[in-house]
Amino acid sequence: MNNALLTLRNRRILLGVTGGIAAYKAAELTRRLQDQGAEIRIIMTRSATEFITPLTLQALSRNPVHLDLLNPDTESAMGHIDLARWADLILIAPASANFMARLASGHGDDLLTTVCLAAECPVAVAPAMNQAMWAKPAVQSNQKLLVSRGVHLLGPDHGIQACGDTGAGRLLDIEKLTLATSALFDSGELTGQTVMITAGPTREAIDPVRYISNHSSGKQGYALAEAALDAGARVILISGPTQQTPPDRVDLVSVVSAQDMHENVQSRLAETDIFIGVAAVADYRPKLVQNQKIKKNTHGQRTLMLEFVENPDIIAEVAKRDPKPFTVGFAAETEHIEDYARKKLTEKKLDLIIANNVADTDIGFNSDLNETTILWENGKIDMPTMSKKALSQKIVTIISQHLKHTI
Ligand code: PMT
Repeated sequence: MNNALLTLRNRRILLGVTGGIAAYKAAELTRRLQDQGAEIRIIMTRSATEFITPLTLQALSRNPVHLDLLNPDTESAMGHIDLARWADLILIAPASANFMARLASGHGDDLLTTVCLAAECPVAVAPAMNQAMWAKPAVQSNQKLLVSRGVHLLGPDHGIQACGDTGAGRLLDIEKLTLATSALFDSGELTGQTVMITAGPTREAIDPVRYISNHSSGKQGYALAEAALDAGARVILISGPTQQTPPDRVDLVSVVSAQDMHENVQSRLAETDIFIGVAAVADYRPKLVQNQKIKKNTHGQRTLMLEFVENPDIIAEVAKRDPKPFTVGFAAETEHIEDYARKKLTEKKLDLIIANNVADTDIGFNSDLNETTILWENGKIDMPTMSKKALSQKIVTIISQHLKHTI
């Protein structure tokens, strides 16, 4: 696989197809993006269905094509808010002049414009239209407005058009469009930095067959590892036992217990510029690990007493180093979220802490979503509910702003 395209692996791309002769190219684009490992879901505008059938794109994307905003069946299966949250990127290709005008003026009168309004993830448009249309002041002013609001403009290309004209307005060649899409995931915000991330749970042995642990799935830590890689960092991922697939380019160190994690963190600290503690580390471990399986009802006992001792506080030990890496913690709380998180920020001498409510089963442990408050000494930002991937990209941006003292 082309290295420049590695960033498309496991990406969730919501492809918006609007009405225009280039709509048929959405079929090839879908295949190319999938070839690079991206997962594709498709929204078509009604006019796009005049140029290519939803069935074709459904067969290629292996997912139902979404057409309507107010269809109760599709809304109950995956509604417009779910689609917006699902996506790592919304790519509108081809984007017609009409669609760009509606996006620029904030319309929400069909599924695609509404999903764009509801999205927290980046949005990119690949315009395709006749050269005279592209040159019109209204179209130019719309594209500039969209770019000024953070929408990525991919193309258009220059060349012979379907109508016989020659000029700017062609949909970017599919190969170039795939590369440009891939480049959107590579921000360069952490280029040259080595980031160490702890992820997942730890397991604390009781006897050869039992342990105590917690509900951490590793999703948040692995998403951060991916976001840091995409931002150009070298990433060391110290992971407790999880079912997650590590990103290709990560330096993975698998561990089991908190002590194990602590030792591995310490041994790689000299090469670390940024430390992010996402792991749900067990605060205590059984004082004695039995050599043999503890038998039930030995001597008629109905209860079992275990004595626990404190584990090392991995992140606090990192933050004690002089010089210390830029140190970011997570706070898993069930009440007084912000107060408790701020206390941890101060007591553990962290640079940033990300507070999440782990009592809410829709977010936090094992969910694909999270809702957080990011806190530092003199400030905070509330992050609404979003995918752990989208949150990770925002955390990376905030870390890079802190390193550059621009926040
Ligand atoms: O893995 P997921 O299912 O995606 O869930 C994500 C998450 C809920 C685990 C994650 O978002 C999260 O909140 N991680 C921190 C879990 C935690 O242990 O929080 P804490 O408030 O107990 O600890 C505060 C900080 O100290 C954390 O950065 C933690 O990694 C660190 N710590 C805690 C104890 C310890 N002995 N050593 C540590 O380094």
